[in-house]
Amino acid sequence: MSQKALWLKTEKGSLEVGTAPIPKPGEGEVLIKVHSTALNPVDWKIAAHGYFIEKYPAILGGDAAGVVEEVGPGVTNLKKGDRVLTNGVFGNYEHATFQQYTLGYADVTGKIPDNLTFDQAATIPLGLATAAVGLFHQDAPSGSVGLFPPWEDGGRGKYAGEPILIIGGASSVGQYVIQLAKLAGFSPIITTASLRNTEVLKGQGATHVLDRTLPKDALVAEVKKITSAPVKVAYDAISEADTQNAAYTILAPGGALVLVLNESVENKTDDKRVVPVFGNTNVPANRKLGVSLYSKLTALLADGAVKPNPVEVLPNGLQGIIAGLEKLKQGVSNVKLVGHPQETA
Ligand SMILES: NC(=O)c1ccc[n+]([C@@H]2O[C@H](COP(=O)([O-])OP(=O)(O)OC[C@H]3O[C@@H](n4cnc5c(N)ncnc54)[C@H](OP(=O)(O)O)[C@@H]3O)[C@@H](O)[C@H]2O)c1
Repeated sequence: MSQKALWLKTEKGSLEVGTAPIPKPGEGEVLIKVHSTALNPVDWKIAAHGYFIEKYPAILGGDAAGVVEEVGPGVTNLKKGDRVLTNGVFGNYEHATFQQYTLGYADVTGKIPDNLTFDQAATIPLGLATAAVGLFHQDAPSGSVGLFPPWEDGGRGKYAGEPILIIGGASSVGQYVIQLAKLAGFSPIITTASLRNTEVLKGQGATHVLDRTLPKDALVAEVKKITSAPVKVAYDAISEADTQNAAYTILAPGGALVLVLNESVENKTDDKRVVPVFGNTNVPANRKLGVSLYSKLTALLADGAVKPNPVEVLPNGLQGIIAGLEKLKQGVSNVKLVGHPQETA
């Protein structure tokens, strides 16, 4: 049985719609008919720069929402017909999401509650994983701040009264960081963004939204005006050189700064940690956290504790993802681009 898939033919080569076999779910896996897949910056970066992937042709895509078509041996938490969301895997094209059918690992695949559409659900897995791993992965102190997760019993409000700085609150990752920080009780939750996004971000839990164009010294001064408490947790969801250095300057001794891209912090000192994050719930290093998060995810989404990113749907099925990746490369604001693989001509 074959399906349509968006292939990256060669390293840094062209993206083309073609066919691929429909994979068979193995032990602990489910086959998902993908109704919505979200685009992430890493997808255009892989296509343009050849990161992460060793074997070509390859299929990209790290976010899927759809319907379970078949369950593999040993799967007990999901059944055929369930509406689900899952995080794809780089370099494993059976688990990639720019295709009409993908595999999901059942223990890190969650049911979508009725209040969310497939498009909304597709915005969640990779962005939320990146937020969750960066802040709350207790077994990976080198790749996380290592805080206690707010979705676990006793986690809500645990960090009440502690400030957090989130650079890039309007990004997909930044929005999930704000929401998890709110659940964990952080206060104030200070973020940077274009000021037109202020109300949206306050609705998600930010208490203060500062203009992303403020120069470093002005940003440091604004944060000091907001809180006199030491800022021991900072998350830079943008991680350009200037944002990293501003966040590191604001970070108090004993604190940790999460970075989503390679580090370019200058004048580092031993008393402040810099933690790189790998936002994927499937990989062995993050799987335990992923299983814990996914065991609570449906409830978090159903009661609105975690809300999806705003969505812009791309036309033309898988073909439309090619233009979507170009659009993402040019930059989007407060929106996740989502494609519909089933609508491929
Ligand atoms: N390490 C990992 O595992 C991992 C995982 C996911 C993502 N990432 C990386 O994380 C970055 C963000 O990904 P994403 O999907 O969240 O991005 P995105 O949603 O495409 O980011 C777009 C947003 O970035 C904001 N922004 C851009 N420059 C900014 C700046 N200097 N200061 C503050 N905000 C700024 C814009 O905010 P305004 O609209 O307010 O201007 C815009 O809304 C990307 O570089 C991505 O590759 C890494």
